[in-house]
Amino acid sequence: MNIELDTSFLVGHDMIDRDHRELVGLVLHFFEAIKRGADKHAIYDAIDIISVKFAAHFERENELMVGARYTDLQAHVAEHRTLLGDLGKFLHTVDEATDDDLQNVAKYLDDWVVKHAASADRKLAKFLRDRTTRPTS
Ligand SMILES: [Fe+2]
Ligand SMILES: [Fe+2]
Repeated sequence: MNIELDTSFLVGHDMIDRDHRELVGLVLHFFEAIKRGADKHAIYDAIDIISVKFAAHFERENELMVGARYTDLQAHVAEHRTLLGDLGKFLHTVDEATDDDLQNVAKYLDDWVVKHAASADRKLAKFLRDRTTRPTS
């Protein structure tokens, strides 16, 4: 998985980066649960907590975007919604999931987090930085 080697999930905004570190920790916990062949109950719990924590993080990013009148809010929120929808689907299929299915979920999560943080979140962090350093007059 890329995520362990990669710090591209850090975007230079204190609150976002704090959240991202926590979220990446939860995703790694999920990877480890799969690797050690944890039972479906533990896998379900890991995905469930990931969903809850990601939803809370997305809510915080949403507040930042609304407060800053972020011009790309809709596209950013659409990416968040896609992930939450997909996590909801995974939760409903954990019972029937094979090892390959779980590996695919882990790969999907890894790719999503790295890609979203490195593109959409990085762009948002830059917008917030530029906004706070922009002259007011
Ligand atoms: Fe984020
Ligand atoms: Fe985001």
